[in-house]
Amino acid sequence: MSQFKTLDDLGDIRGKVALVRVDLNLPMNGGAVTDATRVRASAPTILELADAGAKVLLLAHFGRPKGQRNSTMSVSMTLDAVEDVLGREVMFIPEVAGPVVGQAVGILRDGDIAMLENTRFWPGEEANDPEFAKAIAASGDLYVNDAFSAAHRAHASTEGLAHLLPAYAGRAMEQELKALDAALGNPEKPVAAVVGGAKVSSKLAVLEYLVGKVDHLIIGGGMANTFLAARGVNVGKSLCEHDLTQTASRIMDAADHAGCTVHLPYDVVVSKEFAVNPPSLRVCNVHEVAPDEMILDVGPLAVEALADVLKTCRTLVWNGPMGAFETEPFDAATVALARIAAALTSEGSLVSVAGGGDTVAALNHAGVADDFSYISTAGGAFLEWMEGKELPGVAALRT
Ligand code: 3PG
Repeated sequence: MSQFKTLDDLGDIRGKVALVRVDLNLPMNGGAVTDATRVRASAPTILELADAGAKVLLLAHFGRPKGQRNSTMSVSMTLDAVEDVLGREVMFIPEVAGPVVGQAVGILRDGDIAMLENTRFWPGEEANDPEFAKAIAASGDLYVNDAFSAAHRAHASTEGLAHLLPAYAGRAMEQELKALDAALGNPEKPVAAVVGGAKVSSKLAVLEYLVGKVDHLIIGGGMANTFLAARGVNVGKSLCEHDLTQTASRIMDAADHAGCTVHLPYDVVVSKEFAVNPPSLRVCNVHEVAPDEMILDVGPLAVEALADVLKTCRTLVWNGPMGAFETEPFDAATVALARIAAALTSEGSLVSVAGGGDTVAALNHAGVADDFSYISTAGGAFLEWMEGKELPGVAALRT
């Protein structure tokens, strides 16, 4: 962490203007925010800066408005949720740069917080246009990036600004980078990775990177079917990318060379139809899947064996569910394995880090999200990190 400046490196910031990149790309329903986790993650940074007397200007994107103003994607829709979490009033400024921002900053008192409009209303944001970044930077004295989940984008507010103002990692960013370093950068071994989800194609780069990094690669979800097919298993009607079986074989060969054990299920939960508690549901060995059946979850014997693997490990990184977890009872393997990982974490024998879209939902569903060592709120950024990529928003913070 020493290569990043953090809020500990700030001197006296009373009266200074802090431009703080946060992630307000929040799930909404009927105009209301349904999950303010990302706001809660950045609240310590925002409040620390405000309490130190800075005028805090929040910068964020919302949705993908493609460089145009769009009232349905104004970041002001998150204002109530942000005020609720912070317990402070937040002024909304409907611009990101220029005289309107200048005037508003003139009105703000030390310690006040304001929110600038959706950075993606301007084409310069995604183009990382230096002139656009300069125009934003003109309002600030320092830049804090607290949005790891947007750090895979080399945009003006996530990357460009870091080169124009003294740049610092916020508390959430700092915590995220430490946790991720403990999981893959410099982990205690043995390391296990759970990779699940529907398709191999969406996580090819992740799998290719992980086989060279971890001791155990546990593959679940629909993508396990492609690996099973590569091993000659007839997966019936299961979701399977048959055109990728050679790729799957190549990944398993690379794992062999690197000394990484790939774990595929040897018993599975199958059904003829994909529905809640379908009548045709049964558990069988992977070699007994009928042509009209589909694999929808990892079986209980495989889960037991995976539990034994996790017991021998010191570090776990998890992305993606083991089965079709949104439809009962195909959530069973995900829930069981998540609970085992949580228990091992609570006992102190495992450092567990999870992240990415469905994963957080799956761990919440298992009721164990609080027991993992660290849960990332990032989706795409977490996956790119699992591919071993340096994220531009993080790279720009390096001193
Ligand atoms: C996210 O929601 O994962 C981040 O805010 C990034 O959003 P994007 O995929 O639209 O860049």
